[in-house]
Amino acid sequence: MRSKTLKIGVLASGSGTNLQSIIDRIEEGTLQAEIACVISNNVGAFALERARRHNIPSVYLDHRLFSGRSAYDAALVETLLDHQVELVVLAGFMRILTPVIIDAFPMKIMNIHPALLPAFPGLHAQKQALDYGVKIAGCTVHFVDAGTDTGPIIIQAAVPVQEDDTEETLSARIQVEEHRIYPEAVRLFVEGRLRTDGRRVIVSGQPEYTSNSFANPSALYSLGDT
Ligand code: GRF
Repeated sequence: MRSKTLKIGVLASGSGTNLQSIIDRIEEGTLQAEIACVISNNVGAFALERARRHNIPSVYLDHRLFSGRSAYDAALVETLLDHQVELVVLAGFMRILTPVIIDAFPMKIMNIHPALLPAFPGLHAQKQALDYGVKIAGCTVHFVDAGTDTGPIIIQAAVPVQEDDTEETLSARIQVEEHRIYPEAVRLFVEGRLRTDGRRVIVSGQPEYTSNSFANPSALYSLGDT
């Protein structure tokens, strides 16, 4: 267990509800970390406002002022290092990262994706899941590598897909889980409990396995009773 408070940098382009879930866990004392800065490429991102409300340094970096992705990412790295960031948390950051930032923070960048990877990477994951007809959807926290949503998986959570789901209702159900597992993944990192072995993320100090699997439709579980 480390004694120094680990500094996190959050990159967000939108409303920042995942950012909020991390802020809440820190403020309630169940996550020993400090958000050193929130950076956005979108001046109107509510994530920036959330940062201001919690006295977290917020930085707007307009990507249009840079010659290309690498130049922008170099500015991101500089800002993150200025704030002594040790873990980068992507929370709805709508930009593809280049090796400039990935190599600067190897296995120290996390992302959350609203699907059970490797299914449905990329944009509109919830719609992809609905269109495909899966019965179980969910979300994934993973380390970021050079691919799109391909890095080693840290935590996943599953939710049932209901017959009358729209993209909005399914997204809302998934987001409840996002807000549980993202701060949890950050906590595991902060506590030094994550180690990678190739693609696999090994989590130390896990409780004993207890069966908590579920099926959807859940009626499958009562078949033996009839
Ligand atoms: C979430 O759905 C997350 O899975 C995806 O972007 C969205 C961000 O939402 N990567 P918010 O800004 O945290 O509310």
